[in-house]
Amino acid sequence: MLNIVNQIILAFTNNKSLYIGEGLTMSEHMIQTAMLAENNKSSSDLICSSLLHDYGHFVIEDPNQLVNDKIDGNHEAIGANYLKNFFSNEIIEPILLHVDAKKYLARDEKYFNNLSEASKISLKLQGGIMNNEEVKKFEQKRNYKNAIKLRRFDEDAKKQNIKIKKIEDYKELLISKII
Ligand SMILES: [Fe+2]
Repeated sequence: MLNIVNQIILAFTNNKSLYIGEGLTMSEHMIQTAMLAENNKSSSDLICSSLLHDYGHFVIEDPNQLVNDKIDGNHEAIGANYLKNFFSNEIIEPILLHVDAKKYLARDEKYFNNLSEASKISLKLQGGIMNNEEVKKFEQKRNYKNAIKLRRFDEDAKKQNIKIKKIEDYKELLISKII
C-alpha cells in the first residue's frame, strides 16, 4: 500500500523530461495543477486527481510499469487504468476525463484561443472539438464537472520559474487516499 505512494514520489523525483511543448517538467506541471486546485479550495479528492492527472506519461516512460498496448498513446486512460487499483473512482474519473474536458471546453472560442500551441496540436490528435452527441455523453459522466475544473487548472499550470511545492508535501494526502 505504501509502496505505490513511494513509487509515485520516486517517479515525480526522477522525472526530468519536459512537458510536451512547454518549458517545465511533467512533475512541475502536475504539482502546479495540484496547487491551483488547493488555491481554489477544491476537495481533497480533486487535489489528488490534479496532482496525478498526467501520471500516464510516467507509466509510458517507465518500462518497468505495466502498459496496456491497446490504449498506448492515451495518457489519460493509461494513467487512470494504472492508478485505479489504488485510488477511488472519485479521484480516477477526472483523470480519465481530463482530455475529454478539453474537447468539451474547446467549443468555447475564448478557451480555444487561450490554449497553448502544443495543446492545440494535441487537441487535433485527440479527436478535436466535441460534437453535440459527444457533449451529451460527456455530461452524463458522474464526475464530469470535476474533470472540467481539473482541466482549467491544467491549462494554467504551465508557469516557469515560480516557487512550487515538493512532491513530498503531498505524501500525507496520497497516503490518506489509498483504498
Ligand atoms: Fe496536464
